[in-house]
Amino acid sequence: MTKNPNPSSSEWVLVTGGSHGIGRALALDCIRRNLAVIIVALPNDDLLHIKQELSGIEGAVFATFGINLVKEGAINEVMDWLKNENLRPKYLINNAGFGRGGLFENTSWGEYRTMMQLNNQVMVDLTYALLPVLKETKGGILNMSSVEATLPLPYKSVYTGTKAFVLNYSLALRQEFKYHDITVSVLCPGPVITNKDGLKRVKAMGPTAKFVVTMPADLAPEAISGMLKGKDVIYPGFLVKVMAFMGMIVPRRIKLNVLEKIFSKYRTAEEVGAEELEAAKK
Ligand SMILES: NC(=O)c1ccc[n+]([C@@H]2O[C@H](COP(=O)([O-])OP(=O)(O)OC[C@H]3O[C@@H](n4cnc5c(N)ncnc54)[C@H](OP(=O)(O)O)[C@@H]3O)[C@@H](O)[C@H]2O)c1
Repeated sequence: MTKNPNPSSSEWVLVTGGSHGIGRALALDCIRRNLAVIIVALPNDDLLHIKQELSGIEGAVFATFGINLVKEGAINEVMDWLKNENLRPKYLINNAGFGRGGLFENTSWGEYRTMMQLNNQVMVDLTYALLPVLKETKGGILNMSSVEATLPLPYKSVYTGTKAFVLNYSLALRQEFKYHDITVSVLCPGPVITNKDGLKRVKAMGPTAKFVVTMPADLAPEAISGMLKGKDVIYPGFLVKVMAFMGMIVPRRIKLNVLEKIFSKYRTAEEVGAEELEAAKK
């Protein structure tokens, strides 16, 4: 769905996973700044809800496309759809991703594979496909990493690894893309309450959690400002900056032992129910 008589006249931001959680907050912040938003996310109720939400915002210019980004040929489908709709994004926010926690062997290989595909492969694939357009629109890319990229979390090893990939990949790409006048920024949030897995991690952190946990709307303005200014690494919020700094200065062995202690409850953390998640968001 496109709500704009002349889409080519607006500055479009494509947000993957923009139907829920942090992606939704980033999309809404873009709308507040009068940017036009393209949401690409799974075709389900979350996508319907964000469509309804955006339809209710006066002047909001947006388009949505429902697709499972890890399915074979998905990026080609997105590109064909953009072409048919005459949508040429100036900004690309590679946000879609997910994590799993607990003992390494307690998550299935299939889930790890999907996680690595969505968190890393889809990001590279979409950037590769959109590069010719971005070279012309000369905008920016915001890639979703995590503060865990510098604070490797035991019991969340594969997820932490995917986010370390995003951080290094983005920093390296940034240097290359400056010759195309395309900025590459990387967002490294701390824990944010969005879904059941996030809440499970927050519970595993115990009392420490209440000092560092944020909500998606808290970090979105700093994230989008950072992207528009072409900042390299965005650690949203004071405490996340402190966490990232500590991650850089504390010797590795001490850091990992402390993290293992904090997250040891995560080894056997119980699944979180939908009601508990809704209560935590309030
Ligand atoms: N939450 C945190 O504490 C935290 C911290 C640091 C970084 N991050 C990162 O921030 C990003 C967003 O996380 P979040 O917590 O906001 O997650 P979320 O609430 O679960 O939202 C993820 C979004 O991605 C979409 N999505 C999931 N799988 C997809 C697929 N295969 N194809 C297309 N879209 C897909 C989801 O659609 P549905 O809603 O339909 O499932 C949703 O819109 C992730 O990359 C995550 O790793 C999160």
